[in-house]
Amino acid sequence: MSTQNPVPDRSEHLTHADGAILRADEIVAGYFPGVNILNGCDLYLTEGELVGIIGPNGAGKSTLLKALFGLVKVTSGSVTFNGEDITGQKANALVSRGIGFVPQTNNIFPSLTIAENLEMGVFQKPRQFNKRLEFALSLFPALADRRNQRAGSLSGGERQMVAMARALMMEPSVLLLDEPSAGLSPAMQDEVFIRTRQINRAGVSVIMVEQNARRCLQICDRGYVLDQGRNAYTGTGVSLLDDPKVIELYLGTLARA
Ligand SMILES: Nc1ncnc2c1ncn2[C@@H]1O[C@H](COP(=O)(O)OP(=O)(O)OP(=O)(O)O)[C@@H](O)[C@H]1O
Ligand SMILES: [Mg+2]
Repeated sequence: MSTQNPVPDRSEHLTHADGAILRADEIVAGYFPGVNILNGCDLYLTEGELVGIIGPNGAGKSTLLKALFGLVKVTSGSVTFNGEDITGQKANALVSRGIGFVPQTNNIFPSLTIAENLEMGVFQKPRQFNKRLEFALSLFPALADRRNQRAGSLSGGERQMVAMARALMMEPSVLLLDEPSAGLSPAMQDEVFIRTRQINRAGVSVIMVEQNARRCLQICDRGYVLDQGRNAYTGTGVSLLDDPKVIELYLGTLARA
């Protein structure tokens, strides 16, 4: 069953969010005082889940991830990680706690090599470098042979792999991905979805914002449709894919299967 604006049913959210590894409750947030981009957003992620967020351009998807990761001021509502209130905590503290974030843009250091980018990912725990490098390269074997190549000389898809691998260097239990397949060729988009699923199967709980809405809902356990800073629909990936309203409003134009 999906729930729809303007009167979202929060009872289901509150029940299921119990025991979530990460949850947001009625988040209000924005970039300027008095101008709210998120208007009471709810979200939860349970351990081992892959959750997708889709919605039109400007809906607030990136803002929601940034609010979870302490990069946008949350003026009302709360963010909870493993039962602890982390609202307003800074990004570097959240990284140490086990949350990884791959932003939509500028997510690598182009002048550094692949290996140096990955080293930057683990700067808070340098002793873990070798162990984590092995793990990251096992998920992205194409990067292994090219580890001394400057990241700026890589293709868009390869850069995305570097960004995801870098976020994994700190052994996150939760990974936030913002539009990892945007701007990539169909083949590279496939690669990104396959890798994301593998990362999730390796034990990392994932929240993925995606412009390729249909593909995202196909691989995620649950999905959220965000519109104008609020949850418009929520449900399992399959139920959202089959929901005539979601198809009409969000999948018809957004989807590129
Ligand atoms: N750094 C910023 N400063 C001020 N306003 C911003 C900033 N970033 C985003 N916004 C505004 O917040 C709103 C939501 O933007 P956001 O980037 O969260 O949307 P989105 O759903 O991620 O869109 P897209 O699909 O295009 O990535 C937009 O109106 C945007 O103009
Ligand atoms: Mg965005």
